[in-house]
This record gives sequence, C-alpha cells and structure tokens, in this order.
Amino acid sequence: MTGRATLLDPAWRYVEKPEMAQFRAADWQVLEPQKRVYYQHSRADHVLRLLRTLEADPSWGYEINIFEHCLQSATMLLRDGHDEETVVVGLLHDIGFTICPETHGAFAGALLAPYVDPRHVWMLERHGIFQLHHCHEHPDADPHERERWRGHPHFEWAAEYVERYDQNAIDPAVGWAPLATFEPMVRRVFAAPRYRVTPP
Ligand SMILES: [Fe+2]
Ligand SMILES: [Fe+2]
Repeated sequence: MTGRATLLDPAWRYVEKPEMAQFRAADWQVLEPQKRVYYQHSRADHVLRLLRTLEADPSWGYEINIFEHCLQSATMLLRDGHDEETVVVGLLHDIGFTICPETHGAFAGALLAPYVDPRHVWMLERHGIFQLHHCHEHPDADPHERERWRGHPHFEWAAEYVERYDQNAIDPAVGWAPLATFEPMVRRVFAAPRYRVTPP
C-alpha cells in the first residue's frame, strides 16, 4: 500500500521528506500550525469515536456493558447537578478499560489532563484503587488500599466519585441518557487545552 494520506484541509501542504531528521525550520513552520488546527478540529471526534467502539461490546458479567456504565456514570453526575467538565470525566473514566484494564485509570487521566481540573486527573488515575473499598468480599482486593492517600486534597472527591457515580453505575434499572446528550459537552471540554502537560 502506497500513496499519500489525505490532508484535513486541501489548502495545507505536505512536507515531502522521508525522515524527520531531514526537516528544516521552514518545514516545521508548515507542520506545527497545521498540527494545532488538526487537533483543535478533530480531538473531540476521535474521543467520541473511541468511546463508540465500546457500544456493542459484550459484558463479562455485569448487567450492563462498559459503554452503558460510562453513560450511566455521566447521567448520574448530570442529574446531581455537577458541572459539564465533571460529567465528561464520568463519561470517559473507563474509556480505556477494554484495551488496558490494569492501567485504564492512567489512560483516562492522560487523555483528560490537558482539559480538566487536576483533581479529576488525580481521581481518574486512582479510581480503580478507590473502588476496592466497596468490594468487601473480593478475593484479591484490599478495601483499605486507598488509605495511603488519606489526607490528600483530592481524596474526598475520589472517594465520592467512586461511591456515588462508579461502583453503583452498573444498574440497568437506573437507565442512562444517550451519548448524544453528552456530545456537545465533550466538544466544549476538548475545544482547547487548559493545562500544560509534560510526559513523566
Ligand atoms: Fe474504572
Ligand atoms: Fe467505572
């Protein structure tokens, strides 16, 4: 398979060099503004597309699947009057569960870090551990594992999110709003980065 990828904007330019090591300053001056516009334009689309890939997934035993769980979490947050950013955090908190269950909290945290308050990122990264607090008879879980973070400024939010909007968001009787309800919120949250994030 050969051929050039389609440019998002036909008025844009390709850099026709086979190695980045050959790019000159003028090439980067072409690429960087195009990249900025590209991500501004398409980031929310990509996020929503990724979420939709989970839509028809089977369940491994819960009565609802991971997509419905995400919708239910967001719906409960919306119903309780949480702000748009928090609703989107709930919607996306398990977006990476299927492809990286062990590290899905870090996945969601990395996805949202440029766009949401750091308290949400802290919560997302640890929500799996906070969930163990509610799994009293789980054969491998330590319900007290979250205690290592007791006293941290974001501890209470993580505990509240998991108790009220995650561990209990597996109930088909509660229902959920459709993804269309949340799409405009996702677009607004991902419209522009608000926090500078550097790799660890
Ligand atoms: Fe999770
Ligand atoms: Fe969850």
